[in-house]
Amino acid sequence: MLALLPECENVREAGDFVVELKSVSKRYGEVLAVAKVSLGVRRGELLCLLGPSGCGKTTTLRMVAGFVEPTSGTVSINGADMTHQPPYRRDTGMVFQSYALFPHMTVAENIAFGLENLKWPRDKREARVEEMLKLVELPHLAHRFPSQLSGGQQQRIALARALAMRPAVLLLDEPFSNLDALLRVRMREELREVVRTVNVTTLFVTHDQEEALTMSDRIVVMNAGHVEQVGTPGDIYEAPSTPFVARFIGWCSLLKGMVGPDGAFTSSAELRLTGNWSAGPSTAVIRPEHIKLSADSAAGSSHQARVLHAHYYGGATRLLLDLNGEHLTMQERFSFGSQPKPGDVVDITINTHEIRVIPADERP
Ligand SMILES: Nc1ncnc2c1ncn2[C@@H]1O[C@H](COP(=O)(O)OP(=O)(O)OP(=O)(O)O)[C@@H](O)[C@H]1O
Ligand SMILES: [Mg+2]
Repeated sequence: MLALLPECENVREAGDFVVELKSVSKRYGEVLAVAKVSLGVRRGELLCLLGPSGCGKTTTLRMVAGFVEPTSGTVSINGADMTHQPPYRRDTGMVFQSYALFPHMTVAENIAFGLENLKWPRDKREARVEEMLKLVELPHLAHRFPSQLSGGQQQRIALARALAMRPAVLLLDEPFSNLDALLRVRMREELREVVRTVNVTTLFVTHDQEEALTMSDRIVVMNAGHVEQVGTPGDIYEAPSTPFVARFIGWCSLLKGMVGPDGAFTSSAELRLTGNWSAGPSTAVIRPEHIKLSADSAAGSSHQARVLHAHYYGGATRLLLDLNGEHLTMQERFSFGSQPKPGDVVDITINTHEIRVIPADERP
């Protein structure tokens, strides 16, 4: 309960941001793990740091938690500069990738650990533990040891422990990566619900785009230590601002080419798409749903393409097409066995009203 925590004297009105990073960098010798990252987490939102392995997600999260000190830049929480404060002064709760429960303590003792350090009286502690166990729907497990729990249960207890002190900020570093695919999906929904129930500001790290798209209020896409784009899941998927973001989120085909003075895009393999884009070297981002199997010039630009591969996924079949040397991926629903076969020539329409054409990536 926040009221039980000593009020920090230097808490100022922090506007909308509970956590704010300003031009934060972290260097390990030669490696620039995080490069001038600026971002803010709004009150009550779930913000996700998403990016490939090694892009600096964990380092960024640990700088918020206070386990890693930035080489430069500032970290503030609730308006107070926390850059050089130890973790226990930051009002954050953290859930790690591997469960990190204390193996020699029961579930109840694990959850009460931080409260005990704060010298909470026993009855208050017990009430909070009970409340937290109810929150994660495991009230019957209070007296078990971590080794007697399933992976999913351990992660729920780790969440209960992180929330027991009612931190201003909940930090999670790939908390579901040790769980199987089905359980991951269920845990996502549960976490989302728990976070909504207690309305805690949350910073979540994942390299799983589906996890980020389904759970987040906003996503920060990171690439090689820097922020590539910040936006809602819809912004990131539908309006990627760089080819890196387009490639990282969802299936897509990226065609390199040039937008001419007439606004039309011509790919390096001479595929021409008419539109009204800004002139210059560009990349066309074509999602599977932008291509239909029919010639319909009202819907966009019609072509004939050759099928290279057809993969049946149950609900849909993914087709890899060759269009004058450009490779395009599309998806369509066929019953098993009725999909086009490699070598078939098919009519397609690319919905040029919906595809994105973005300036070419100049970064290496
Ligand atoms: N203590 C350290 N000493 C030296 N280099 C480090 C240290 N911690 C991280 N790095 C380097 O910093 C970069 C970012 O690491 P970080 O752990 O933040 O990546 P990540 O995005 O969390 O990756 P993953 O998805 O694999 O967990 C990597 O190149 C990593 O090797
Ligand atoms: Mg990591």
